Amino acid sequence: MKALIASSYGPVDQLTVTDVTKPVPAAGQVLIKVRAASLNALDIRLTTGAFREQMPVEHPFHLGLDAAGTVEVVGEGVSRFTAGDEVVAFTYPFFGTVAEYALAGEGPNLVHRPKSLSPEAAAALPQAAMTAAAAHDAAQLKSGQSALVIGASGGVGSFLVQLAHRSGAQVLATGKPEDEAYLRRLGAVETIDYTGKDVVEEARRLRPDGVDVVIDLINAGPGLAATAAAARNAGLLVSTLGGAPGFERGVTVAYVGVDQGVGQLEDLVRRAAEGQLDVQVETFPFSRAVEAAQRFAGSHSRGKLVITF
Ligand SMILES: NC(=O)c1ccc[n+]([C@@H]2O[C@H](COP(=O)([O-])OP(=O)(O)OC[C@H]3O[C@@H](n4cnc5c(N)ncnc54)[C@H](OP(=O)(O)O)[C@@H]3O)[C@@H](O)[C@H]2O)c1
Repeated sequence: MKALIASSYGPVDQLTVTDVTKPVPAAGQVLIKVRAASLNALDIRLTTGAFREQMPVEHPFHLGLDAAGTVEVVGEGVSRFTAGDEVVAFTYPFFGTVAEYALAGEGPNLVHRPKSLSPEAAAALPQAAMTAAAAHDAAQLKSGQSALVIGASGGVGSFLVQLAHRSGAQVLATGKPEDEAYLRRLGAVETIDYTGKDVVEEARRLRPDGVDVVIDLINAGPGLAATAAAARNAGLLVSTLGGAPGFERGVTVAYVGVDQGVGQLEDLVRRAAEGQLDVQVETFPFSRAVEAAQRFAGSHSRGKLVITF
């Protein structure tokens, strides 16, 4: 079978679509014939070696943790799935969904795909929507509160804006001018062009006392101190990256990741299938997987970038 792989750490240009051995499911695993897979920032950071200290990988490294497809083989002891089932999976710790076949373990990160949700939209959900759900849970937004989402137009952000809006929060969302209408359609009441304005200054102009919660998907480490300044006194900063344990003026911080979203995939899939969660995708055929990875790493796809098979 063919898979998108990196033979060593290096730029995304060195990725190749290569013949590899088709995996065999062990006990508790299923083999999925992949119909669609999505890329995430983690795939790129593991490809380039940006995360080689905290998360080294073995080479050849197989990209991808998100997939939608058809169960082809079930391993011993698998009870909830049979061959022919249409599924959606977050396959961690098994990388390699950008391939004709991928392994996934039975558990909360492997769920059935409703017919009303396309494989492309389903594959866009796992990592990004689970992380958005985790950030949304940490934010504890109440109706009428305000939230600034930095990085709103991407995978995690596009789901988060919708979840925050549905909580009754007033969402201020960053994005390029061409994303303004999209962000408003997702539920943002204000948009901030991060390319032309200082995000914190503009948020403070719009909400002079500060927002209740800043959800920053972009900045990490010392950069978070600057965005914490957009929060009100004793407000909250939520980050998917990492930084200091607290900030000035009593602003507290919650660091979240996809791990905290485990258990939410089934509900997110159902909501998307019922039209309660908009899923925006840009698709590339698998034959153009290297180009897709280059596009994802370089410029930006609104919502998620999905590779189809
Ligand atoms: N800890 C975890 O488990 C976990 C899980 C998932 C994601 N994450 C992290 O969360 C972040 C977001 O992930 P994602 O999947 O949503 O990435 P993504 O799809 O690449 O989206 C990032 C978005 O940020 C925008 N952007 C870029 N620079 C910006 C800036 N300076 N200010 C405001 N917006 C900016 C980009 O928009 P344009 O370029 O179009 O303007 C893009 O829409 C990543 O850093 C990722 O590593 C962490």
